[in-house]
Amino acid sequence: MHIPTLLAALIPATAAYTKLSDSSLKSLPSPGSDFDIKTGALLSPLLTVRVPGTPGIAAVQAHFVTFFQTHLPSWKLSFQNSTQPTALGRPLPFVNIVATRDPPWAKQGDVGRLALVAHYDSKIDPPGFIGATDSAAPCAMILHAARSVDAALTRKWEAMKSAGQTGSLEGEKGVQIILLDGEEAFLNWSDEDSLYGARALAASWEQATNPAMSTFRTPLSEISLFLLLDLLGSRNPSVPSYFKTTHWAYQNMASAETRLRALKLFKSSPNHPSRKKAPAKNSKGGAPAREAREPKFLPEANKKDTATWLGGLIQDDHIPFMAKGVEVLHMIPDPFPTVWHRIDDDGAHLDGATVEDWALLVTAFAAEWLDLEGYLAAKPVMKREVGGEGEAEVVMGGTETDARPEPVEVQGRSELSNF
Ligand SMILES: *[C@@H]1O[C@H](CO)[C@@H](O)[C@H](O)[C@H]1NC(C)=O
Ligand SMILES: *[C@@H]1O[C@H](CO)[C@@H](O)[C@H](O)[C@H]1NC(C)=O
Ligand SMILES: [Zn+2]
Repeated sequence: MHIPTLLAALIPATAAYTKLSDSSLKSLPSPGSDFDIKTGALLSPLLTVRVPGTPGIAAVQAHFVTFFQTHLPSWKLSFQNSTQPTALGRPLPFVNIVATRDPPWAKQGDVGRLALVAHYDSKIDPPGFIGATDSAAPCAMILHAARSVDAALTRKWEAMKSAGQTGSLEGEKGVQIILLDGEEAFLNWSDEDSLYGARALAASWEQATNPAMSTFRTPLSEISLFLLLDLLGSRNPSVPSYFKTTHWAYQNMASAETRLRALKLFKSSPNHPSRKKAPAKNSKGGAPAREAREPKFLPEANKKDTATWLGGLIQDDHIPFMAKGVEVLHMIPDPFPTVWHRIDDDGAHLDGATVEDWALLVTAFAAEWLDLEGYLAAKPVMKREVGGEGEAEVVMGGTETDARPEPVEVQGRSELSNF
């Protein structure tokens, strides 16, 4: 029998975060053709008008349900539905979709979870608005991440079970996908006209109580980290670290980004092999071509405590959760994409490589958070022939320490409003 001890409560959440090895990072699947904007199984069904209460959003809900039933049958799928008065003057239905995967032995109320969150509704105006970055692409990234850690979770929990390790000091760890409805305002953004789904879910989960003696009192407190993705999929994003209390998590994601880039796994990188020109036939050989400066999606890993932390200024789905004490990591670029809330926030304006890179990064972060090192299937590393053309084999070293200190001045801040 597992007796929760005071000691367990004293171990910081960060203690359990285990970095993935280079070979595990290399084994993470890339979304590939599933993110094709016309035919991709994950992304293309989302690139449609999805206004709450319309047939368009119902089709997208069906897409999510089919995805989980087909590919992730071990995840518990649930809905949190509400009907709410709206700024349009009539009530509309809102459907939050939640998929949860916990250790098979865990009791209700004993699992702390990484929540991967995005909204799936689209803005009613301008007519025909698709919201590819807002937030069709983030939803697809999350589905990809869920699918990519599923088998490793099974392997890890089976190994723990056969080793009799089903009552760890750090508590149980699970993962949850939260796809929110009704994020967008119908008329003008206000506390009442926005975040319909998030407000309903946070209230519902705060009121529900777990069995006595549970580790967590409410479903809301089972969220260890609320990782919210929004407005992702345009080229060259820059996401600040918004919250001091989750800066440790931001740093972990930034470190995963740096390592994925060093391993040449980021397709949007100027140094990705697919972008490299073939070396000239008569080049002297030896000295490899100089690398272009590597950009960063997350440039603030070395931000100082005394810097400005803007968490909470941007109105987004985290607000009702944050107000109830949930820890938030907010992945939203600053400035917002130029297509933000414009008709051209559509599939054609997504940067496919950037969308795939985000999916990979979120997968790596989730795998590290869930301690999946050793359980991700290692795909055989293909040795590339080094032929006469002089293509040097890139040596991938351990790159844990390659995060270069960088000034973290925040400039060019967009208006910190809603989205
Ligand atoms: C919530 O709404 C969805 C979509 O309309 C529906 O399929 C589901 O059965 C509803 N669930 C509950 C618990 O009412
Ligand atoms: C929304 O706000 C704009 C300007 O802030 C105003 O012109 C417009 O009338 C408002 N619309 C509604 C429906 O309140
Ligand atoms: Zn929006």
